[in-house]
Amino acid sequence: MSRKVIIAGNWKMNKTAAEGKALVEALKPLVADVCPDVADIVVCPPFTTLAAVVEAAKGSNIKVGAQNVHWAASGAFTGEISAAMLKEAGVEYVIIGHSERRQYFGETDATVNQRLKAALAAGLKPIVCVGELLEEREGGRTEQVLAAQLTGGLAGLTPEEMTRVVIAYEPVWAIGTGKTATPEMAELTHNFIRCTLNDLFGKEVGEGVRIQYGGSMKAENAGELVAQRNIDGGLIGGAALKADSFAALIHNAIAK
Ligand code: 13P
Repeated sequence: MSRKVIIAGNWKMNKTAAEGKALVEALKPLVADVCPDVADIVVCPPFTTLAAVVEAAKGSNIKVGAQNVHWAASGAFTGEISAAMLKEAGVEYVIIGHSERRQYFGETDATVNQRLKAALAAGLKPIVCVGELLEEREGGRTEQVLAAQLTGGLAGLTPEEMTRVVIAYEPVWAIGTGKTATPEMAELTHNFIRCTLNDLFGKEVGEGVRIQYGGSMKAENAGELVAQRNIDGGLIGGAALKADSFAALIHNAIAK
């Protein structure tokens, strides 16, 4: 089955509205040759930068995502943003359960699941992050950890809903460290994730789900990572913060 590549830049807590607009304006001409049938290009700025980036990306092949979403429609949830607010802002994708949310803000598989359901109900396209810590990999527990994150995070979804979800596999030890999983190591883990999705949702659905790799992906390693059978793109941190490095990464990822 051929799955369309999806390359998403997670800007994390970087870029003011003015800086975000400038980055998208610089990126647009550099990726204008990337056919929308070949790859989805997504940028995920902080909440306050979303509107400027949606405006700057209009009419281009660059799509916009947020970095989190709350599960409630409205109410007393200081500091949170609802799915309807993101839709109104023109957002298409949303990252859910990033390891930094899990590590620093108490995100659990249960809250990932609630956020995911709210995002799907609002028609957002969720990117659900999973990944193991260094000690979990070294302790031989990677598959156990991923299986629990997938089973818990995706609980109660219908197969149809699952067709609208992207999974991002981000080994926590590879994020921002310059340590990338080798393409072979990443592929083995992606294959495990694919098998788990097949078990949970049926092969027809599981084989269609796009699984991104994240963790020190850059122009130099994107090609061989995305060439792996079960690696369908990337979720990029540092290398997505400059137009030229992000454009080079995208071109290398889709080069045959
Ligand atoms: P880096 O690409 O900076 O390692 O970050 C990866 C990441 O966390 C993307 O969500």
